[in-house]
Amino acid sequence: MKGMNIGFALCGSFCTFSKVLPVMEDLGRREANVIPIMSETAFCTDTRFGTAQSFIERIEGICGKTIIHTIKDAEPIGPKKMFDVMLIAPCTGNTLAKIAHGIVDTTVTMAAKAHIRNERPLVLALATNDALSAAASNIGTLLNRKNVFFVPFAQDDPEKKPRSAVADMERIPEAIKAALEGKQIQPIYGAVRT
Ligand SMILES: Cc1cc2nc3c(=O)[nH]c(=O)nc-3n(C[C@H](O)[C@H](O)[C@H](O)COP(=O)(O)O)c2cc1C
Repeated sequence: MKGMNIGFALCGSFCTFSKVLPVMEDLGRREANVIPIMSETAFCTDTRFGTAQSFIERIEGICGKTIIHTIKDAEPIGPKKMFDVMLIAPCTGNTLAKIAHGIVDTTVTMAAKAHIRNERPLVLALATNDALSAAASNIGTLLNRKNVFFVPFAQDDPEKKPRSAVADMERIPEAIKAALEGKQIQPIYGAVRT
């Protein structure tokens, strides 16, 4: 990971921030150059999980860089070839749907479009309550998209939220390494013993 330029985008799955920020710190310890990005929702919304300002300060402290949080500032990611790999963690059902359908109206979708034009890997770490309903077809679409990879995900609360799934954030570094070699780590979804 040393010296690797990693675009690290956070979307508005606020309950998942506490799981991904330690990963951001870990990538920094591995001497990756982590460039933070936030969706407008993630950048501007105070929730019961914390204020937007507290997350902004923590993220900028970890990365030592200003967060990219506008479409205008995300646009140069393509022409400047800023990232070796781009990660979206957490990736909301909303952003997943937009990427699947080529909609580019947020900082994160702009960053993803700009990055992927360079034929470089995009790694998605999902967190969405509708993974096994409305988002399922979008997951399917992106599983078949060139240069798009998934951090392995699973149902997080099958009893109370039977359609929900969340990525195993601890496997992000492994998923990034594999994506850089053009590989998808397995199992993408819980494996069945045969
Ligand atoms: C407290 C809170 C928690 C949320 N958690 C999630 C979540 O885990 N997954 C998800 O897909 N959307 C979640 N949302 C909804 C998204 O924030 C919303 O769809 C938003 O439009 C996403 O925008 P973005 O994808 O540009 O970040 C949550 C919203 C709030 C207020």
